[in-house]
Amino acid sequence: MSFSRDIERYADLFAARTKVMKSSAMRDLMAVTARPEIISLAGGLPDTSTFPAEDFAALMARVRPLSDKPLIVKLTPNVSDVVPVALAAQDGGADALSLINTLRASAVDPRTGAPWLGARQGGLSGPAVRPVALAMTMQVAARTHVPVVGMGGIQCGRDALDFIDAGAACVAVGTESFRDPAAGTRVREALDRALCARGDGSAAAATNAARDRLRAA
Ligand SMILES: Cc1cc2nc3c(=O)[nH]c(=O)nc-3n(C[C@H](O)[C@H](O)[C@H](O)COP(=O)(O)O)c2cc1C
Repeated sequence: MSFSRDIERYADLFAARTKVMKSSAMRDLMAVTARPEIISLAGGLPDTSTFPAEDFAALMARVRPLSDKPLIVKLTPNVSDVVPVALAAQDGGADALSLINTLRASAVDPRTGAPWLGARQGGLSGPAVRPVALAMTMQVAARTHVPVVGMGGIQCGRDALDFIDAGAACVAVGTESFRDPAAGTRVREALDRALCARGDGSAAAATNAARDRLRAA
């Protein structure tokens, strides 16, 4: 599929989902969620790792005007350099950046030697990706100025603190929530304790200090 057709497909899906957000069913759903302003439009959209970094600006120019809501752009780690994509997203009007999405990975069925996953490849998440996520969070936090949402393998307060020290303004807990449905609350409380024990006034102060450190390095 050509890039211009990909970008149109992306824009069509994004526009359709933005419209659905205004439907009465979605309003009902938003009324019962704790953070109604945050809705993921990402699932099932074309894989942006196939977009050349220089074309990401064109994608942003096409989708940003479709919604007046705050836009958090989720970055894929499946690129050789995440910084140009992060800068294109920021310069194209993203209100925040979040990373990382899953890493392209595979598994082999030992009985047959064939790929174990139906689509041959899938997305790797959880603790194995944490060092990759931390490195990319640092790179993006050092080179951009919008808030960064860090994620990838966070399981406990110490992991979350590592992401704050990598310049993230806040963190997300994904895979760990499958093992422990209360992980979000547990990690948030442990992070608060860890920040307090270290004498940090707030997560925001720690984030700002981390970004200053990273920019100066
Ligand atoms: C089952 C599953 C479904 C996911 N679906 C989405 C999705 O629809 N949109 C998205 O941006 N990321 C999706 N992700 C990626 C996560 O949001 C997250 O970026 C990634 O898994 C790394 O964080 P974690 O190790 O805490 O899970 C999904 C991850 C998993 C494991």
